[in-house]
Amino acid sequence: MAALNPLLTKVFRGPLDLNGPIIGRIFYVFEYVRSYVEERLEAFDARFGTDTSAPTFERNQQTDVHFYVPTTASIIYSILSILPLKSEKFTFVDMGSGKGRALLVASEFPFQKIVGVELSENLHRIAEDNVKLYKPESQQCASFDLKCMDALQYAYGDEPVVLYLFDPFGREILQEVVANLEKSLKARPREAYVVYVYPQYDDVLESSSVLRKIAEGGPKWQPWSQYVIYAATTAAAERPSHDDVRSASAVPTSKAA
Ligand SMILES: C[S@@+](CC[C@H](N)C(=O)[O-])C[C@H]1O[C@@H](n2cnc3c(N)ncnc32)[C@H](O)[C@@H]1O
Repeated sequence: MAALNPLLTKVFRGPLDLNGPIIGRIFYVFEYVRSYVEERLEAFDARFGTDTSAPTFERNQQTDVHFYVPTTASIIYSILSILPLKSEKFTFVDMGSGKGRALLVASEFPFQKIVGVELSENLHRIAEDNVKLYKPESQQCASFDLKCMDALQYAYGDEPVVLYLFDPFGREILQEVVANLEKSLKARPREAYVVYVYPQYDDVLESSSVLRKIAEGGPKWQPWSQYVIYAATTAAAERPSHDDVRSASAVPTSKAA
């Protein structure tokens, strides 16, 4: 977990599991205050008339299903701006899309399609409303596909993909989600990127046989805004050089591309 300060990880999401039924509620209060301050600074919902800022702890929230809190909008903008891809070929998939903040920001890039996969029916419905409300002049993709389903059931298509993860679930689910992507990339080699924000289980991606880390970044003292970016090694021949990644720290890798 190179990108994440280990001490802060322990403090915020340590062995006591901050997504659990007891500590989770205290952590939720922290996230609520943090999101409130962020909305005051960035005014995302205030500008677009959407409802993405407030965290949501569902009544039946499971420990492995992390509660809803949005990615900081400016972090998504900066990550998507440094991805070395021709986004018009790509499908953007937010696994655990919640109220849709990442989907909305992604629509300001020329993706071919934007897919949101969300387990909670309540959050899924809010995301649908947000998509209808979000119409900035800078929007470049209006092709949204919002699915209310378990990330484990998601079937990838044949197109190049950007898989976006903002700390959506625990280690076991992440392992299965990554395994599904690997299977898809092995069956149909193509360009793919995985963006993982708040990468507390980065080791799962690091141990992948078809992904290699190309960048990491984010403010050191804000673990919730740190990120890692991986690229699929199976389509290396078709990919542009990752030397082009304009990141705070491009990551040298020993894996063969
Ligand atoms: C931290 S929020 C991320 C929200 C959004 N991606 C963003 O960046 O603004 C995590 C979301 O993942 C969803 N989630 C957790 N486990 C899931 C699963 N197995 N399948 C689909 N969604 C899941 C939660 O319900 C929650 O809305």
